[in-house]
Amino acid sequence: MTINGRVILEARDVHKQFPRRWGSQVAAKALDGVSLKVESGETIGIVGESGSGKTTLSRLLLGIDRPTEGSVLFRGVALLRLDDRGRRDFRRAIAAVFQNPYSSFDPRMRIWQLITEQLVIERSGTDRERRVRASELLTRVGLDARMAERYPHQLSGGQRQRVAIARALVSNPEILILDEPLSALDVSVRAQIINLLLDLQDSLKLTYIFIAHDLAIVQHLCHRTLVMYRGRVVEEGATSTLFEKPAHPYTAALIAASYLSEAQLQERGHTLAESQEEPPAGGCAYQPRCPIATQLCIKVAPSYRHLDTAHRALCHYPAGFDRGFFESNYDSLDAGGLDQPSLGRDETRQQRDH
Ligand SMILES: Nc1ncnc2c1ncn2[C@@H]1O[C@H](COP(=O)(O)OP(=O)(O)O)[C@@H](O)[C@H]1O
Ligand code: SF4
Ligand SMILES: [Mg+2]
Repeated sequence: MTINGRVILEARDVHKQFPRRWGSQVAAKALDGVSLKVESGETIGIVGESGSGKTTLSRLLLGIDRPTEGSVLFRGVALLRLDDRGRRDFRRAIAAVFQNPYSSFDPRMRIWQLITEQLVIERSGTDRERRVRASELLTRVGLDARMAERYPHQLSGGQRQRVAIARALVSNPEILILDEPLSALDVSVRAQIINLLLDLQDSLKLTYIFIAHDLAIVQHLCHRTLVMYRGRVVEEGATSTLFEKPAHPYTAALIAASYLSEAQLQERGHTLAESQEEPPAGGCAYQPRCPIATQLCIKVAPSYRHLDTAHRALCHYPAGFDRGFFESNYDSLDAGGLDQPSLGRDETRQQRDH
């Protein structure tokens, strides 16, 4: 697949703060300065543990929520500045598939009505035309067109996710935001849905933003990957570079967790579970969990370091970790008193000594 480099959608330094919850002292900062450019034809992966801000980012990109600061741009124009026609084009151009479509399906609507709901909102076509469109889309996503007359509860999980994909395709979008579309599915069904998504991307020239927990899928599907932690992009780069030489310790931990068993991780005293410890004010948000943190990390928040033009990491000590780095160095890194972590790469040391 070729990427033509045209930026369709952009998030520019977006922040999202939710109102303070009852009993909580602080407002929840779900996004803390995220920037992202989405080019036509590419597949972008977004990974990060639960609560890191992935869904909040996708809701801003879809225009469902507004950023507290910063802006989202569609073909170079801020969403708030789009005229009526621009807004209509935007609504058609970006669509989403979420993890659990069942919760957003009205149980009283038939499948053909669910698929074509957007056309009703746009007052596009007659009932008859919408039924025909639903049948076409059902076939396109590998379902029997006769399913059009059924209700959501009569479908299996995999069939419902196919219906959700058909529903997202109804306005011929350019970009599909797929927010953990496989997480609720049986392992046996996941490969089928991945193949469907790949076929659709090829035939319809779609651009994907693929949000996932499963790193193996991102590695397989995505040209570029963003790693999120506590509302920030902590690393971004070509997927192959990120998986071969993760620069941020959190990316390295995520990759390690994907090929070490939970038991092996626990044996090393490490788990990806959220730390209870609050990060230091003014320091690096990842510091409480970071095996190579130094005094500098406690005191000073890192800014982005560029490892090459397309690869950046939010870390004072971005390392060219090898794939086996985390495993082979874990014990020494975890030994405490890590003012002089042995990163094993000269250029990294030079960067640090700077
Ligand atoms: N509507 C909301 N009100 C308050 N806090 C929210 C809301 N939505 C998300 N959050 C908070 O924002 C953070 C990021 O959430 P989310 O974007 O859903 O993360 P992810 O999709 O990566 O699991 C979490 O701490 C979550 O509790
Ligand atoms: S800045 Fe320090 S604490 Fe933060 S990720 Fe990098 S090494 Fe770890
Ligand atoms: Mg989410």
